[in-house]
Amino acid sequence: MIFLQVSFHYGKPQLNIITIILFLITTAQSGNPKFEACTPQTCGKGPSIKYPFWIPYQQDSFCGYPQFEITCKNNNPILKTSNYDLIVKTISYSNSSFIASNLAVYEDKCPAPIYNYSLALDQTPFTYSSENSNLSFFYNCTTEPIHYLTYEVECAENATHYSFAVFNTEALEHNNYSLNECQFMVNAPLVMNTSVNFTSLLRMNYIDVLKMGSVLNWTAPDCQHCEKSGGRCGFDNYKFICFCKDKSYLKVCGDDGNITLLLEIF
Ligand SMILES: *[C@@H]1O[C@H](CO)[C@@H](O)[C@H](O)[C@H]1NC(C)=O
Ligand SMILES: *[C@@H]1O[C@H](CO)[C@@H](O)[C@H](O)[C@H]1NC(C)=O
Ligand SMILES: *[C@@H]1O[C@H](CO)[C@@H](O)[C@H](O)[C@H]1NC(C)=O
Ligand SMILES: *[C@@H]1O[C@H](CO)[C@@H](O)[C@H](O)[C@H]1NC(C)=O
Ligand SMILES: *[C@@H]1O[C@H](CO)[C@@H](O)[C@H](O)[C@H]1NC(C)=O
Ligand SMILES: *[C@@H]1O[C@H](CO)[C@@H](O)[C@H](O)[C@H]1NC(C)=O
Ligand SMILES: *[C@@H]1O[C@H](CO)[C@@H](O)[C@H](O)[C@H]1NC(C)=O
Ligand SMILES: *[C@@H]1O[C@H](CO)[C@@H](O)[C@H](O)[C@H]1NC(C)=O
Ligand SMILES: *[C@@H]1O[C@H](CO)[C@@H](O)[C@H](O)[C@H]1NC(C)=O
Ligand SMILES: *[C@@H]1O[C@H](CO)[C@@H](O)[C@H](O)[C@H]1NC(C)=O
Repeated sequence: MIFLQVSFHYGKPQLNIITIILFLITTAQSGNPKFEACTPQTCGKGPSIKYPFWIPYQQDSFCGYPQFEITCKNNNPILKTSNYDLIVKTISYSNSSFIASNLAVYEDKCPAPIYNYSLALDQTPFTYSSENSNLSFFYNCTTEPIHYLTYEVECAENATHYSFAVFNTEALEHNNYSLNECQFMVNAPLVMNTSVNFTSLLRMNYIDVLKMGSVLNWTAPDCQHCEKSGGRCGFDNYKFICFCKDKSYLKVCGDDGNITLLLEIF
């Protein structure tokens, strides 16, 4: 574009029109490689991955933000945080949220969490949504828990010290259970799958409950306007950008101040 403007000042008008036509033909034919590079992809299983997320080797790093990097493991999309690897189950791009569960829940022998889930999200663009309910884990308690209210965590127990998980800590306290007799506790915010009712929830074990996952929200510049105009969002040279079929724009496809400038010259 700069080349065009310069040639208007110093060249002959007919030559410039030819240059413009040639330029338009070449750009129309070559398209925008960054638009193609950011075609939505999947890991095989799981949701479609696009801005602000991106998959290395399948998409370029400019298709999303560094902290939204998704790695594929056994065909599942994985989001790495400082303490936990999250397996991404569904993504709702329209309300900037996704449902994810801890990969350890599927892989570890004793997947009872020892860190508060929220700790892993320190200094990330992600937060646990208030739609979740806390499943609280209590470890090394000296009193036996009330079984009908709690999920047993056998793998963290011995003959004298009990460990369990509970949604409703108040119910325990109403039954005079003293949580002070436990050595430590952590919270896992979990989302109630709509296909799970209260009865079936109580019949599950804590591992199945953890597998329901959590709703997380993200913060990133909104892609809606770019996408509605036919573009794909990205993050290039440290700023948000809208990749369109013809070229890249700052916000929306076709909205380029320089087109007006060109028309004015004509
Ligand atoms: C987010 O979007 C999904 C699917 O579009 C919808 O089911 C869900 O209710 C939305 N959540 C909120 C909090 O708006
Ligand atoms: C997450 O997003 C939903 C829908 O946009 C909103 O209702 C909720 O308040 C958000 N939660 C947090 C913790 O930001
Ligand atoms: C869950 O517990 C955390 C503290 O670990 C708290 O900040 C959060 O508000 C709780 N969430 C809900 C939904 O009660
Ligand atoms: C229970 O206490 C023991 C020893 O104090 C500790 O090694 C163990 O990690 C604790 N259990 C859990 C689940 O934290
Ligand atoms: C059970 O665990 C507690 C806390 O970790 C520890 O103090 C105690 O010695 C253990 N008891 C047995 C029998 O292993
Ligand atoms: C809890 O303790 C209080 C006072 O000791 C007693 O009045 C109440 O009946 C107890 N509740 C249960 C469920 O045991
Ligand atoms: C988890 O968070 C709760 C509530 O904020 C806190 O009381 C508890 O000590 C935390 N657990 C750990 C292991 O940091
Ligand atoms: C709860 O769900 C289970 C299995 O999903 C089902 O068999 C049962 O009828 C449901 N109960 C109620 C009260 O909806
Ligand atoms: C909800 O539960 C059903 C049946 O257990 C399962 O097929 C579905 O994947 C679950 N949804 C989520 C988001 O975990
Ligand atoms: C418009 O042209 C100016 C120079 O005239 C250039 O600095 C700017 O980057 C161009 N804007 C776009 C969106 O291409």
